[in-house]
Amino acid sequence: MTLYIIGLGLNGPKDITMKGLELVKSCDEVYLERYTSLLQCSFHDLAKFYDKEITLADRNTSEQGMEKIVKQAKTENVAFLVIGDPFSATTHTAIFKMAKENDVNVEVIHNSSILTAIGQTGLQLYKFGKTTSIPFLDDFPQLETPYRILQQNQEIGAHTLMLLDIRVDQDQFMTVSQAIEILENIESRIGEKAINDEILAIGCARLGCDDFIIKTGTLKHLKDIDFGKPLHCLIIPGKMHFSEEEIIKMWT
Ligand SMILES: C[S@@+](CC[C@H](N)C(=O)[O-])C[C@H]1O[C@@H](n2cnc3c(N)ncnc32)[C@H](O)[C@@H]1O
Repeated sequence: MTLYIIGLGLNGPKDITMKGLELVKSCDEVYLERYTSLLQCSFHDLAKFYDKEITLADRNTSEQGMEKIVKQAKTENVAFLVIGDPFSATTHTAIFKMAKENDVNVEVIHNSSILTAIGQTGLQLYKFGKTTSIPFLDDFPQLETPYRILQQNQEIGAHTLMLLDIRVDQDQFMTVSQAIEILENIESRIGEKAINDEILAIGCARLGCDDFIIKTGTLKHLKDIDFGKPLHCLIIPGKMHFSEEEIIKMWT
């Protein structure tokens, strides 16, 4: 018996790998974790495509109630579906570790992730520094972390990927504009000039989907662009090789 942690990729039902699909079909129970990211299809579309019932795993099931899923995998084959790649959100390492500690067989089926899809911008993945997240300010009114991480990356000339907060249960997804406003808010409190209107950035929406958007421009310019449906993320490039500069110009 095995716990299969299966990446679903970034778009819709057909982004699962062949191996992942075969395993989903063969499992006794299938859970879907959908609070750290968003697919461009409903969970009913997934269930229909897999021809399988899917149990939604909410925040509690994933972080505290995971024991139940891990225990179940001692006697049954269980699939735990994760949007994107299983290991590109910190929470999923916990279920893998718990399975190992409890002598439960665990297998991981990887898939594409936002952490690699950003390569489509033309920036080299090797040249990214620490990734940071921007939470909604009402949760963290004194927020500094994304600003500090940007400064650390800027010091070594590395690119910065900023993942934007989502509240799936409240249907709230941070936009590129909101993220820029939050960075400006931090700048106004800290005043160390890491952020200003003229900084070059890249806004991305729905990478991996047919209607993806990538736009290069100053923060001032990007703030006025409507990137459409979620998910969005923001990149602030560091020192660029001329080939990177050439490619990102294509998205202006
Ligand atoms: C916590 S990460 C989850 C990563 C996911 N497990 C993966 O492998 O892609 C979720 C955040 O990444 C960004 N993101 C995820 N998928 C995206 C996409 N297709 N296009 C743009 N941004 C995306 C958004 O900022 C979103 O709030």
